[in-house]
Amino acid sequence: MADPAIVVTDLVKHFGDVPAVDGVSFDVESGTVLGLLGPNGAGKTTIVRVLTTIIRPDAGRATVLGIDVARDPQAVRTVIGLAGQYAAVDENLTGRENLKLIGRLTHLKNKLIDQRSDELLERFDLVHAQNRPVRTYSGGMRRRLDLAGSLVNHPPVLFLDEPTTGLDPRSRIELWNVIGELVNDGTTVLLTTQYLEEADRLADQIVVINGGKVVEEGTAAELKARLGQTIIEVDANDPALAERVQAALSPLGTATIHDNGERVALQVDNGPKAMIAVVRALDAGGIEPAGLEIREPTLDDVFLALTGQPATPEARESSGDDR
Ligand SMILES: Nc1ncnc2c1ncn2[C@@H]1O[C@H](COP(=O)(O)OP(=O)(O)OP(=O)(O)O)[C@@H](O)[C@H]1O
Ligand SMILES: [Mg+2]
Repeated sequence: MADPAIVVTDLVKHFGDVPAVDGVSFDVESGTVLGLLGPNGAGKTTIVRVLTTIIRPDAGRATVLGIDVARDPQAVRTVIGLAGQYAAVDENLTGRENLKLIGRLTHLKNKLIDQRSDELLERFDLVHAQNRPVRTYSGGMRRRLDLAGSLVNHPPVLFLDEPTTGLDPRSRIELWNVIGELVNDGTTVLLTTQYLEEADRLADQIVVINGGKVVEEGTAAELKARLGQTIIEVDANDPALAERVQAALSPLGTATIHDNGERVALQVDNGPKAMIAVVRALDAGGIEPAGLEIREPTLDDVFLALTGQPATPEARESSGDDR
């Protein structure tokens, strides 16, 4: 088997007394997608910034295609593409000029730059705006341009820091498709996300980080197997009632109280079947809930299952559509 495309070993990065990255290790196999999943402040961006040579690690080691990021950052830069958490585009250039600039900086021939730009503008739905200065673009358009920019030189290793935050659902699915195609062509991708659904859809391997440390890793299927495929959520709207709900549902699976003690999340494998059992159990206990729903597990459920604690409050409120 080929060597992993990215190897991270005991990586440490502190900012003052904040241990942003606190001894993180993982590998990314060549031609696969690794999803770095974690709430706000987990250390995702810091890891990406170390791997893309923007900042130096305090300790530990990281290599990209065998090249050490601290010892030979220049060489690393020639094999990677990066779309950062905040779009890095020149406001005063047009969309097309931004792509051209990146093509020139990476020493591509003009003809190839034009060809790649046509393709990427099309792919990211920016043809209509290609000749407008970026300062007239919406947030979602900037993000799409930034993503296009990371692909101009067709890098073998791609870093995407929360690539779909700020994209509308259609652009998000389009980006997922683009990532799928790139990986089919052999590109290695490391992406960060706060969404379990996104990691599930895209990543071959998921590394869950929190507080600068790896708290869990595996495939999406393995993570879900550990916390149930489906969540049945009972809104009790009252802590005392939530405790009765938990007691009534515990025979059916792991029932966790959350949301200020007002809701109960039951992890189950077969949602519809379990739903029937839940309704029976609630009825038998004379419990009338305020709400009842079946849903996919979220990042919060992963954290709830792993730590008994929800992810940070920001993680629950975060994201949005600024297109
Ligand atoms: N330049 C910096 N100076 C000081 N502290 C920093 C700096 N960069 C990051 N931190 C701190 O390091 C920790 C990890 O931050 P990081 O940006 O890596 O998190 P993240 O997982 O990317 O979060 P988010 O989902 O909000 O983007 C946070 O506590 C953050 O405040
Ligand atoms: Mg970040």
